Amino acid sequence: MTFARILGTGSYLPQKRVTNDDLAKHIDTSDEWIFSRTGIKARHIAADDEKCSDLAVQAAKRALTDAQVDTEEIDLIIVATATPDMQFPATATIVQHKLGISGCPAFDVQAVCAGFMFALTTAHAYIKSGLAKKALVIGADVFSRIIDWQDRGTCVLFGDGAGAVVLGASDEAGIIHSKLHADGAFLNLLNVPAQMANGEIMGTPFLKMDGQGVFKFAVKQLAAVADEVLNEAGYQAEQIDWIVPHQANRRIIEATAKHLGVSMEKVIVTVDEHANTSAASIPLALDAGIKEKRIQRGQNLLLEGIGGGFAWGAVLLTY
Ligand code: UT7
Repeated sequence: MTFARILGTGSYLPQKRVTNDDLAKHIDTSDEWIFSRTGIKARHIAADDEKCSDLAVQAAKRALTDAQVDTEEIDLIIVATATPDMQFPATATIVQHKLGISGCPAFDVQAVCAGFMFALTTAHAYIKSGLAKKALVIGADVFSRIIDWQDRGTCVLFGDGAGAVVLGASDEAGIIHSKLHADGAFLNLLNVPAQMANGEIMGTPFLKMDGQGVFKFAVKQLAAVADEVLNEAGYQAEQIDWIVPHQANRRIIEATAKHLGVSMEKVIVTVDEHANTSAASIPLALDAGIKEKRIQRGQNLLLEGIGGGFAWGAVLLTY
């Protein structure tokens, strides 16, 4: 049987690190408020000249080195992002060019914070069907560009970053099962209600969120989709070695682990240092867990994420 196997991972965080105390110098907030409600201590913010594709390229290069795969072997590039370099073309094509690759399909997927689940599942389908052999799957976002830095209800929650995996066709175990969902009825919980039209930005180009609404929806749906992916794959929660969740809020992460009866010792948590990096958060956490030698080859991982749309999903895999 052919599996889509993770051959290597890489990630990139911009150099500038901003702590909660740094934010408290400019807005009415405190380290105590932010940390107690979210588990966030700090976030990284892209330099003015750093674009989404720049972050993505750094993460991709590290993943390729880790996988010992040459750029010419890559036959599919997918970038999950909600903060592309341009309206069009796809950031994936810009990443492709910056990596010196040409010809293979390269496209973006837009599922906001769940984007990496959608990108990974798409690449999995390409590989399982024989349409691709080695795929570069990247989650990259610069939410610092779509945040109103005067809005304390949102600006303390997000950071910038990128994470990447090289996925390859293999006889060895890889992705076991995936489950994705979306429901546009929940649009108003989380969005950036702007569009370009007639040479102007129409609407508000800053993130709007109903924090409590998102919190409740996330806790409910992440528990449900985790159950679904396990049940459909015929796995028990006890067989999970690591949960690698979307890093938005430590309390949401804890709720999913508790629901599954999985100890927090078996959950990769990076929200304290990364904050919510949207599509980058899961591959950033995955790479951190692997580079810290906590996640080992042969272990079973449950990746799960949720974001605007609403869109959510989970992927069960053997690393
Ligand atoms: O990928 C998905 C992305 N989004 C999420 O995951 C967000 C999920 N939601 C959450 O994490 C939480 O709802 C938040 C952390 C965003 C907010 O926590 P909360 O306990 O729901 O707080 P709240 O919005 O109900 O606000 C409580 C109080 C309010 O003051 P009053 O009206 O009670 O006087 C806010 O104005 O906290 C105030 N507040 C702040 N205070 C200090 C809101 N933001 C801040 C802040 N610092 N940064």
